[in-house]
Amino acid sequence: MNRKYRKTVIAANWKMNKTPSETKAFFTEFKNQMPKGRWCDIVVCVPAVDIPAAVRALRDTRVGVGAENCNANASGAYTGEIAVNMLVDAGCKYVIIGHSERRAMGETDADVNAKIHAALGANLIPIVCVGESLEQREAGITDEWITMQIKAALAGVAVEKIKKIVVAYEPIWAIGTGKTATPDQAEQVCQMIRTVIRKMYGAAIARGVSILYGGSMNEKNAEELLAQPDIDGGLIGGASLVSEKFVKIIEAANQPIA
Ligand code: 13P
Repeated sequence: MNRKYRKTVIAANWKMNKTPSETKAFFTEFKNQMPKGRWCDIVVCVPAVDIPAAVRALRDTRVGVGAENCNANASGAYTGEIAVNMLVDAGCKYVIIGHSERRAMGETDADVNAKIHAALGANLIPIVCVGESLEQREAGITDEWITMQIKAALAGVAVEKIKKIVVAYEPIWAIGTGKTATPDQAEQVCQMIRTVIRKMYGAAIARGVSILYGGSMNEKNAEELLAQPDIDGGLIGGASLVSEKFVKIIEAANQPIA
């Protein structure tokens, strides 16, 4: 983290978990446990049907609600899809874009790029996910792959818009496996992502972009991951479904400024 230059962001990705009733119950508990300090931005990205319950429960808090996906088109014949203006109207401030689980369902780099443009156009903050597979890591092409994903995702994004984007580095092999990247491995890639952004947008912009780590981050390993200079927060799956664990991760963001 480096709170002098950029925000620390602790974000939950609930994936396909919790019903609206369970969402309501979760936030009743969470609001009682939530740390009072303001050392990081807190975000919860929830299934679309849970958005109203989350927005209602968090109305008087500083916690931002996000969606887990969006469609790049403004409206029309896209059965089952949700447009960015619908998310904004429902109370969302964030949207996860390009999660590896969605890429595995066929989402391309071009789709990711189009969704980022749509989100930014609606004033939603995109949490853009990138990450390599185990095969790619073992083949030694992690940096090349991530560089390509970042460049493709940000193609055509104007310099004044880039400040709104949050990037999440999520190695696919670490997601839901209990196999976390070591702090050094995660830092190395997050630092490399910042270098790519620096080459695209300049040093001042790159210094201000929050880059999160995701992949089996939990209440035990969060502190050492967040202590890395280029890891500005976390995108948390499994551990964000349990209020006490999520709260402990938020507390781990309370570290002295490096
Ligand atoms: P886990 O924390 O369950 O590994 O999931 C990480 C993730 O994919 C967050 O987007």
